[in-house]
Amino acid sequence: MKTGQEIRQDFIDFFKGKEHHFVRSSPVAPLDDPTLLFTNAGMNQFKPIFLGLEEAPYARAVNSQKCIRVSGKHNDLEEVGVDNYHHTFFEMLGNWSFGDYYKAEAIKWAWELLTDVWGLDKRRLWATVYQSDDEAARLWSDVTDIGPDQILKFGEKDNFWEMGPTGPCGPCSEIHYYDGPDMSLMKAEGINTRPDYKELWNLVFIQNNRLENGALEDLPAKHVDTGAGLERIVAVLQGHTSNYATDLFTPIIQQIEQLTGVPYSEDGGVAHQVLADHIRMLAFSLADGALPGNEGRGYVVRRILRRAARFGRQIGMREPFIYRLTESVADVMGEAYPEIREKFKFIQKVLKAEESAFGETLDRGLEVYSNMVSGLKKGATLKGEDAFKLYDTYGFPLDLTQQMAREQGLAVDEAGFDAAMTLQKERARGAAKDQAELKDIPWETASPGTGSTFVGYESIECAATIRKYRIIHEKTCQLKLDITPFYAEAGGQVGDKGVIMADDFLFEVKNTLNMLVDGQPEIVHMGQVRRGKLEKQSSVTARVDGQLRQATRLNHTATHLMHAALKQLLGDHVHQAGSLVEPERLRFDLTHYEKIGADEISEIENIVNDEVLKNLPVETTIMAYDEARESGAMALFGEKYGDEVRVVDVPGFSRELCGGTHVALTGDIGAFKIVSESALAAGVRRIEAVTGRAVISWYDQLVARLTADGARQKDRIKALEKELKAASKASAHDYVEELVAQAV
Ligand code: SER
Repeated sequence: MKTGQEIRQDFIDFFKGKEHHFVRSSPVAPLDDPTLLFTNAGMNQFKPIFLGLEEAPYARAVNSQKCIRVSGKHNDLEEVGVDNYHHTFFEMLGNWSFGDYYKAEAIKWAWELLTDVWGLDKRRLWATVYQSDDEAARLWSDVTDIGPDQILKFGEKDNFWEMGPTGPCGPCSEIHYYDGPDMSLMKAEGINTRPDYKELWNLVFIQNNRLENGALEDLPAKHVDTGAGLERIVAVLQGHTSNYATDLFTPIIQQIEQLTGVPYSEDGGVAHQVLADHIRMLAFSLADGALPGNEGRGYVVRRILRRAARFGRQIGMREPFIYRLTESVADVMGEAYPEIREKFKFIQKVLKAEESAFGETLDRGLEVYSNMVSGLKKGATLKGEDAFKLYDTYGFPLDLTQQMAREQGLAVDEAGFDAAMTLQKERARGAAKDQAELKDIPWETASPGTGSTFVGYESIECAATIRKYRIIHEKTCQLKLDITPFYAEAGGQVGDKGVIMADDFLFEVKNTLNMLVDGQPEIVHMGQVRRGKLEKQSSVTARVDGQLRQATRLNHTATHLMHAALKQLLGDHVHQAGSLVEPERLRFDLTHYEKIGADEISEIENIVNDEVLKNLPVETTIMAYDEARESGAMALFGEKYGDEVRVVDVPGFSRELCGGTHVALTGDIGAFKIVSESALAAGVRRIEAVTGRAVISWYDQLVARLTADGARQKDRIKALEKELKAASKASAHDYVEELVAQAV
């Protein structure tokens, strides 16, 4: 019997033999497609080629792609574990033609691999085509020996494949396999309806692009995109009707049995199946850079973990154990996907921390849930507010509550849940509402022209003309200039403060922001008129508060140095998760799963201070994005950059894309000191640090505190000594009394 590993390799070798180029799986958490939270098909990484935006480096490709289908258009979550052939994470085997071969070859080769190479029973195989695709139907008869009754037509839902709401798409032809026990029961009506007819392979003939307005446009060329489910093919070839019985899953199921002491049975082992499925999704998401969080991709990871944890409770697991299952996942998958071994320790740490954190509210939540539903009869609906309470107070994702409800034949009022969520958000937004109301205050034009030129890298003072302004409330105003030295808040660096002035006019700038003014992006100065009238001004002098700006520059360059030092010391998994650069201090959030120990903190300080002492020049260059990335510049995950980027370089040590203001020489930083390290969220640490004079103040305060403490301790010791003396005197006295009392 062939192993899953061998079957994966068979597929790749078969298409390599037909001049296909092997392409590695792309990450499950795509970095460059905002329309996708997770990679949901093998074709995702080729999307730009299909759309004609990129030229294909080869005409044919083959790969096995890690896919996750738990969000968006392709979402199989409800089926997972309940049936035995849908997964949150699965491997999709695929072959591609980029404007090269088309339907005939795609059909012929799929058939050849399934029936000749793998020897599947031709009588059990069915082909479906799109209702109007007579060409594909004819080709099935012409280029294969499939029985004519086994070619069926279906509509858009089953045979027109789309990756998401927009993007490349086209008619498809699917290959299904009947794995029921009795061939005499096999019939066409089973396809696309019954679980013993499994879709094994989908051949998509990519020829259209779905636009945002819903229209379909023709692509410049026709392509082939196929996807075969490895787990299902392995099940069929190994003679199983359940994917969980294949060697891709049995080691994981066995580890679950061993850790829980609960044996698995194929017909009642939902918890085992869910756990075996979910751990693969979790391990690969984390290996590819997703982290549990409260939004988007991170929340999907968190949801899956929480779902798994609750199934763990059902088979008696009260302590974190899911993280341990990564051991069997690494055993099964490590060879094909080495990232799972490379990131092994990190993945375990993240999972364990998440499991422990949720474990604390899970039991209480389950209790609250059972009270909520205790009076409900089968078919009833759990109130949206209740589901929201479980979400808000006990961290139960909506789909977890829905899953529990489904198990008891209950529904959940989803609209009510959404309403409760909206209400809470509105309450939270109440405070920020003033900001939104500002939108309605119109801008006055003082002198015509749009756009603001930023000259603040070179100087902190310049002559300028007021272009637009508006009065928010009495003296509180906003204004924009034609040119300005004021840095507008961006990239974590706060906006500049300072003054804008003329004879008899003084405007105190309290903050500077990038804003849309009448639809144009502009640098806006916010603050208060201290002297004179804004309406009368045109020519002014704009002057940034030099001291504050200088302190900010120190902190910004120090942030870059620390970022590089963290990566150097802790490893490549460290990514910036947030940053604030102010005059007073810098704050930096990073992905890391442990407390950063005192030794490590001082090591980081040493590395940074060494770079400060070297007094290296800090160079800034404008270059093309690709050039910058090739030169090794750290770009921030998820940020969008234009074609031209600014690279800030501390030669030989740090290189980042950054628009902020920096010192000229690292020596300007003076000194660097980390003042706090804490946990911000599971997997995210927060560091605060100071530079320059603030380091001296920090030590001054420390010395003052220690001196005061010392004095206090001295007084306390004196007092204690006094007490001790008195006490020993008293006890000697008591002892004598006692002896006298006992005397006969
Ligand atoms: N993109 C198609 C699918 O996901 C075929 O690869 O089914």
